[in-house]
Order: sequence, then C-alpha cells, then structure tokens
Amino acid sequence: MKFKGSENYVATQDLMLAVNAAITLKRPLLVKGEPGTGKTMLAEEVAASLGMPLLQWHIKSTTKAQQGLYEYDAVSRLRDSQLSSIEGSEKVKDIHNYILKGVLWQAFTAEEPVALLIDEIDKADIEFPNDLLRELDRMEFYCYETRELVRAKNRPLVFITSNNEKELPDAFLRRCFFHYIKFPDATTMQQIVDVHFPSLKKELLAAAMKTFYEVRNLPGLKKKPSTSELLDWLKLLVAEDIPLEVLQSKDDKVSLPPLLGALLKNEQDVTLFEKLVLMNQRNR
Ligand SMILES: Nc1ncnc2c1ncn2[C@@H]1O[C@H](COP(=O)(O)OP(=O)(O)O)[C@@H](O)[C@H]1O
Ligand SMILES: [Mg+2]
Repeated sequence: MKFKGSENYVATQDLMLAVNAAITLKRPLLVKGEPGTGKTMLAEEVAASLGMPLLQWHIKSTTKAQQGLYEYDAVSRLRDSQLSSIEGSEKVKDIHNYILKGVLWQAFTAEEPVALLIDEIDKADIEFPNDLLRELDRMEFYCYETRELVRAKNRPLVFITSNNEKELPDAFLRRCFFHYIKFPDATTMQQIVDVHFPSLKKELLAAAMKTFYEVRNLPGLKKKPSTSELLDWLKLLVAEDIPLEVLQSKDDKVSLPPLLGALLKNEQDVTLFEKLVLMNQRNR
C-alpha cells in the first residue's frame, strides 16, 4: 500500500513520503497548513487512490469525542415506550436500536479497511484530542449501554487536519506522524493550476500568478490568499473573459487587479493593497 499522488492532486515528494510513513507506522497522519492548501483534499485523494472508502468527521466547536464513538438516544426510546404499539415495544426492549454509531464505530467495524478523516481538529475544545487518545491508539472502545467492546477489525488509515488555530496536547502529538503542508512554491502552484485549468492561456496564467504573488507577499496582510483563492480567482478571470491587458501593466507598476474580492477577504487588506498601488502610481 503506497501513495504515489493522483491525477487531480499535486503531491510534493515530502508529502507523499509523509503519507507513506504514516501508513508504515500505522499512526494517524496529522496535517497542518494554511486554510486552502489541500489538507482535506489530501485525505480524499489518498483514500481514492488506495481504493478505500473515506469516512469523514468534520469537527465543530461543539463536537465531543464521544459523538465519534456512539450516542445513546434515550429521548427516542422514552417516546417509543410511551407510544405502546406491539412492534414498538419490541423495539424499545432492545437498547441496540437506540445506539447511534459514530464514525469511529463505523470505521472499526467496516468489513474492508477504510480511511478516516478527522477534519479541523483544532476547532474543538482542548479536551477533544485527549479524549480520543486511547481510541486512536488501541483502536478499541467500550460501549457501556450494550456492554460490548468495539474493536477495529482493520486498522483504519487516519488523517487529522488542523488549521493551527489551537495547539494540540503533547500526548496527542506523540501518537501522530506530522506533516506541515508548506505554501506551494511557484512551480508547484503552476502544476496545481494546470490540474484545474489545463487549457488556460500561458500569458494570462503568468500575469495572474505574478499579481497573485504580489498580493500574497504584501507585508502586513491579515489573511493571505491561498491556493483555493487563486483557483477561484482564475475561474472568475476565465468566466468574465478578463483581457490580458487588464492584468499586465506596461511599466511593471502594481495596479488594482480585477475581482480582488476573490483574493482579499477583509477591508483592511484591501485598503493596504490600495495604498501600495497609490504609492506606486505617485512614484512614476
Ligand atoms: N495540491 C493540490 N492539488 C490540487 N488541488 C489543490 C491542491 N491544494 C489545494 N487544491 C485546491 O484547493 C481547494 C481547497 O483545498 P482543501 O483541501 O479544501 O484545503 P484545506 O482543507 O487545507 O483548507 C481544493 O478543493 C482544490 O481545488
Ligand atoms: Mg479543509
């Protein structure tokens, strides 16, 4: 079982190495990086290229670790017990009917090996990663309501992503293989764009990339645009049929690019960029 990249996803050498290291170690792969650098898509692509189904668990600030294991729906059981039909009371007797299996339970009991994505783990509270340590380590947990031990038939291939909004506990980190997806350099970015827009005109792409990196490298930006923003912007440039001349300034001065809202997402950043453009024009 080896990941060698895929047609839709540009994986750098070190990223492929990290994926394979996690597979070899049988440890979760913890992927960090700026939003929009392909963390979620990595899990989807690895699963697809290894032919594994992918179970996804998208974490919110209110998500609890227990929800990934199972939840006991006592309210439905009580309601069913009050609606006293005959088949209903049969159902009420068996507690299994009221256990909602979480993604970990599903992953552990799947017939074939599966991949499991725990997406944006840093959204949850600090206890969340710690609460999952044992389950991810031993690949088993106990269901008190049904008195059964749920143990993984096959060890799932686990991906955990983080946007780095919170630090993760050391005990948790110890159990993962870690990879940071660096922001793609120009060559890699070119490849990524090629995957999404194979027939984009060379000149337009070159001009757009130049503008994109100018915007991105502006010192003091609150939110730097990333890969997904560039792709959105290119899509718009193509859809709106923006002519090349609008992007290329003759004298190599910075000008305000069209559809800037695809790249910069808050007014301070836009103002900052406008100032730069103004300064440039004065220096003419
Ligand atoms: N290496 C890559 N190859 C191809 N497309 C990419 C790559 N990285 C990012 N993308 C594009 O950027 C989008 C956002 O990626 P996503 O996985 O949602 O980012 P993240 O989870 O890191 O926020 C994807 O839908 C994909 O279109
Ligand atoms: Mg994501």
